[in-house]
Amino acid sequence: MARKAFIAGNWKMNMTVASGTKLITELKPLVKEAKCDVCLCVPAILIPAMTKAAKGSKIKIGAENMHWAASGAYTGEISADMLKDYGVKYVIIGHSERRQYFGENNDTVNQRTLAALKCELTPIVCIGETLSERSAGDTEKVLSRQLEFGLHGVEDVKQLVIAYEPVWAIGTGQTATDEQAQETIKFIRKKLSKMFNVKDANRVRILYGGSMNAGNCKGLMAQPDIDGGLIGGASLKLDFAKIVNFDK
Ligand code: PGA
Repeated sequence: MARKAFIAGNWKMNMTVASGTKLITELKPLVKEAKCDVCLCVPAILIPAMTKAAKGSKIKIGAENMHWAASGAYTGEISADMLKDYGVKYVIIGHSERRQYFGENNDTVNQRTLAALKCELTPIVCIGETLSERSAGDTEKVLSRQLEFGLHGVEDVKQLVIAYEPVWAIGTGQTATDEQAQETIKFIRKKLSKMFNVKDANRVRILYGGSMNAGNCKGLMAQPDIDGGLIGGASLKLDFAKIVNFDK
């Protein structure tokens, strides 16, 4: 079964109500004909205003993180139910910046992923190797560990989205080549077929992320195992529409 392409933006800690609303208002007509699923993951506090701005368009508003507990004494955190109050469907889990700066690890990624699935949110689970891990030839080992621990206890893998984001490509302007990205994502799918089964692994959408832009998206999207992109910097501009329209 063909997998539907999925282009997701990740605004990170950027934008305000005014600048975000302006961008979404301008993007709306440009993505009208999109055949792929489109989502913008935005800072939690912007979710209500951006949901309003995106109304009536192809753009779904997603979140950048969520906590695993249903509620409780977790100052500064956001629960699945709070996201669902605003109609959120997609939530990024385990982005490398959270792993790098906020103590996220495979165990917390696992807890967040299971909690998102339980609440019928679609986690976009991020995995990826650092430059030193790739140079040491450890890419497959690192990704395997991230998948085995991060997806431990997942029953239906088709319910989630994986984003393969080599850490050395994020925000650096240094994209993985089409072949590198394809080869690694093919490995991820093979690993999923061993952890789960071939049929389900073939239905999981796997995105590439890391300096994907209007110029390089066509080549990446033409790869057989790449189903979409997780876009950081280029999702803050109208270029995002060009990526969404990669097939035009
Ligand atoms: P980038 O970010 O497109 O700016 O490299 C991607 C990401 O961090 O998801």
